[in-house]
Amino acid sequence: MKTRITELFNIQHPIIQGGMHYVGLAELAAAVSNAGGLGIITGLTQGTPEKLRAEIERCKAMTNKPFGVNMTFLPTLTPPDYGSLFEVIIDSGVTVVETAGNNPAKWLPMLKEGGVKVIHKCTAVRHALKAQSIGCDAVSVDGFECGGHPGEDDIPNFILLPRAADELEIPFVASGGMADARSLVGALAMGADGINMGTRFIATKEAPVHQNVKDAIVQASELDTRLVMRPLRNTERVLNNPAVERLLEKEARLGADLKFEDIIDEVAGVYPKIMQSGDMDAGAWSCGMVAGLINDVPSVNDLISGIMDDAQAIITQRLNGLY
Ligand SMILES: Cc1cc2nc3c(=O)[nH]c(=O)nc-3n(C[C@H](O)[C@H](O)[C@H](O)COP(=O)(O)O)c2cc1C
Repeated sequence: MKTRITELFNIQHPIIQGGMHYVGLAELAAAVSNAGGLGIITGLTQGTPEKLRAEIERCKAMTNKPFGVNMTFLPTLTPPDYGSLFEVIIDSGVTVVETAGNNPAKWLPMLKEGGVKVIHKCTAVRHALKAQSIGCDAVSVDGFECGGHPGEDDIPNFILLPRAADELEIPFVASGGMADARSLVGALAMGADGINMGTRFIATKEAPVHQNVKDAIVQASELDTRLVMRPLRNTERVLNNPAVERLLEKEARLGADLKFEDIIDEVAGVYPKIMQSGDMDAGAWSCGMVAGLINDVPSVNDLISGIMDDAQAIITQRLNGLY
């Protein structure tokens, strides 16, 4: 399949693996790129320029296909050294950066000069238009369904994608709720040039996370996610567990007085405990509603080639057969 996204990133299939804290390590990024999609290493999981450089080199040793690095700008207690991290990305010859969380304008000149294509993740059409106006090459449009940070507008992809298609000139991928060929064909029908998946890629053989995480996603239904940190305007969609219920109880009790410090036990330092140790009740971790569509743990290659084969069948048989 050829779309503006496959052309832009020089990949075979219009499927991107979004950055995921403590999941987007070299093993997963390389597996996605080797399968013809675009794998993405999560920059902030590495934290320091030295560690990020080493992770990029590990990925290069596992694939000779293009892959990207995610750089997320979110409120953190100790802001990372973004400048040095971007220098490493450029210096290592990485060709794609996925930015998220805040306006990447400050970093675009150095990335452009370094020959890096930038895809910015947005949860609103106005943010996508801003990304286009500052010179991003593409955007990833994240609907309300998504795992991670869906923003504060709560617009699901059935509305958000056609709205984005009506307004944008640059290519965009649909993100949030994408799991299979139906997602891909639906996204293309709504004007997107491909899909970005997060949660679906965690439940794969190559995802370098504890088996408990994959099992939890397979067991979860579409009813099992919750929105946390809404009172702080930093909404995150997470899988429900006892820690999340504690957190929501604090949010309800403290109301407008809630501060980040009140929920620190449930949200800070959680990812290594969940993803590496499989301590599933350690705190709140991102997961999309799409968990309800995930019933297996395939290899990344089987997942991606299955999506592409089934998409062709949907388009040429089911849809064409309607005429
Ligand atoms: C466990 C997990 C961690 C994530 N971490 C990040 C992150 O660090 N930076 C980022 O930009 N997006 C992050 N995301 C969002 C994904 O890149 C992607 O946009 C989202 O998962 C898409 O929705 P889906 O899960 O329904 O596919 C994360 C998502 C999950 C599930």
